[in-house]
Amino acid sequence: MSNQNIFYPSKEVISKANIKEYENTYKRSIEDLEGFWAEIAGRVDWHRKWDKVLDNSNPPFYKWFVGARTNIVHNAIDRHLTTATRNKLAYIWEGEPGDTRVFSYHAVNREVTKMANMIKSMGIKKGDIVTIYMPQIPELIFAMLACAKIGAAHSVVYAGFSAKALADRINDAQSKLLITADGGWRRGKIVDLKKIANEAAEITPLLDEMIVVKRTGHDVEMEDERDFWYHELEKEDFVHNKCETEVMDAEDMLFILYTSGTTGKPKGVKHTHGGYQVYTSFVHYAVFDIKPEDRWWCLADPGWITGHSFIVYAPLINGATTMLYEGAPTYPQPDRVWEMIEKYQVNILYTSPTAIRGFMRFGDAWVKQHDLSSLRLLGTVGEPINPEAWLWYYHIVGGGRLPIMDTWWQTETGGFMISPLPITPLKPGSATKPLFGIDADVVDEKGETVEPNEEGILVIKKPWPGMARTILGDDERFKQIYWSDFAEQGWYKTGDSARKDEDGYFWIIARIDDVLKVSGYRLGTAEVESALVSHKDVAEAAVIGLPHKLKGNAIHAYVILMHGVQETPELEKELKSHVRKEMGPIAVPEKINFVDSLPKTRSGKIMRRVLKAQALGEDPGDLSTIED
Ligand code: PRX
Repeated sequence: MSNQNIFYPSKEVISKANIKEYENTYKRSIEDLEGFWAEIAGRVDWHRKWDKVLDNSNPPFYKWFVGARTNIVHNAIDRHLTTATRNKLAYIWEGEPGDTRVFSYHAVNREVTKMANMIKSMGIKKGDIVTIYMPQIPELIFAMLACAKIGAAHSVVYAGFSAKALADRINDAQSKLLITADGGWRRGKIVDLKKIANEAAEITPLLDEMIVVKRTGHDVEMEDERDFWYHELEKEDFVHNKCETEVMDAEDMLFILYTSGTTGKPKGVKHTHGGYQVYTSFVHYAVFDIKPEDRWWCLADPGWITGHSFIVYAPLINGATTMLYEGAPTYPQPDRVWEMIEKYQVNILYTSPTAIRGFMRFGDAWVKQHDLSSLRLLGTVGEPINPEAWLWYYHIVGGGRLPIMDTWWQTETGGFMISPLPITPLKPGSATKPLFGIDADVVDEKGETVEPNEEGILVIKKPWPGMARTILGDDERFKQIYWSDFAEQGWYKTGDSARKDEDGYFWIIARIDDVLKVSGYRLGTAEVESALVSHKDVAEAAVIGLPHKLKGNAIHAYVILMHGVQETPELEKELKSHVRKEMGPIAVPEKINFVDSLPKTRSGKIMRRVLKAQALGEDPGDLSTIED
């Protein structure tokens, strides 16, 4: 290895690791992709085995485990009910106010069955999509699993989204049922989800019914005939009946999850029962070294892909015990997370660079006053981790003894793609190497592999079981976004730039499309721009991301006002609250600059890179295509 700052795992970590060898297994997995995944698929149960591992007859619409019959809920819950895992804790939940609830696998099955019976009674059938808009409470997880159990798909909309964003997603998925709650706790305040759900229901004609879980107990408006309290439904006899887990085709839809892309319209990324269960549960076992005695804490919201894969499906399939926390990680004090790790003796912590930088800001003392000796592995995801934050995480949280799994992946990939294993020597800021079966490379625009340490486009050259199958209702867009740049070679374009060093380690640099990562959240510049332009005083808008110490990137907007409108600090405030209303708090620009013109190409496309270079005082590069 090159003589950089390298952190080697201890002998103890290596001797206990679930996976003890990388190079040969990796080579074999790439040479015999189908053989490798057939072997890994043996980790889960199937009602009927596949006729073919991979159908690549119609790229990029790959099919995995063709002909197989299964249901992810069978592997996540049902199969544990006849083993000792039945009595094991599946979830340990703590609410922000400090209330706690725990669920064994047996209890999860009971709760999911109840919810499944309720959903069925609302007329939801196999193939329908149910929208879920919930705080981080156990019922969010039960709702997801209940949908999957009866063969319906779920579409979870993150609870930070606005009524308009929620309504757009309900419309796109054609959901007739919304599962929500009265509210949730965040920083000591109630987030009034039912109010937002009611507003959304008013602007979508589709919604027939709502199931509402009581969490906060504040007054909410319920509409007769449409809205049903969960605790009232629970009193009905039929809710307690047995509910069979529907046997599905491996390629049947499990869920859609909306994510941001380069156009204003969010895209519903589709995942399926078969390939997804094999992929997520395997990478979770391999990277986080899951052992029966572990307590695993993924500090994400179940409403994002990280939560779908690594709070809900993979940990349950692996029979793990998972922590779930409702609120803000630094509330009421900056040591909330460290206090909970000590209290519950958590073994593995998985969080984001933004959260780590947030903890760092409060100083080491908040961490050091807690006994974190139960921890044996750390992880991070969502954006590139700056070496300063990596080193703080390693030394202060990990006491210099715990490997950090920097996992690179996406909503579209289903699970980790480039990531260390516990046995991998680490370099701060590098996600290290591709996992088994993942043929990743860094190439130029023609598809040639670039020289070591040169920046290029990150591509994946072979399909994998956890990959997204399409964008809901828009196969063309799926093809165009991910598969058109390297159509001849049949490679997946990730949208990220990266470099590979002389040891074959990958260093993710940034998004190269018009997608921003702000505090690890994924936002399209076009979405924020169209929110701004929907305000009556705005004629045109352009949005860029500028480096931010805490958030990684911060949103900066450039706005041309309608003729005759005065630029005032009040208007800047109003535009910010307009974006909040249209999209939600995560999309609010840090700064809005009022300008007279925007740099554009002759065909009228806004040149965001010119705005960015100007803001950073850098050379804007080639300006030959600029109009003015
Ligand atoms: O830019 C990469 C960044 O997050 C993007 C995917 O975002 P999303 O679909 O919201 O999924 C986030 C959680 C899986 C990627 O294209 N990203 C994710 N993980 C890393 C990362 N960038 C650098 N290092 C990572 N570990």
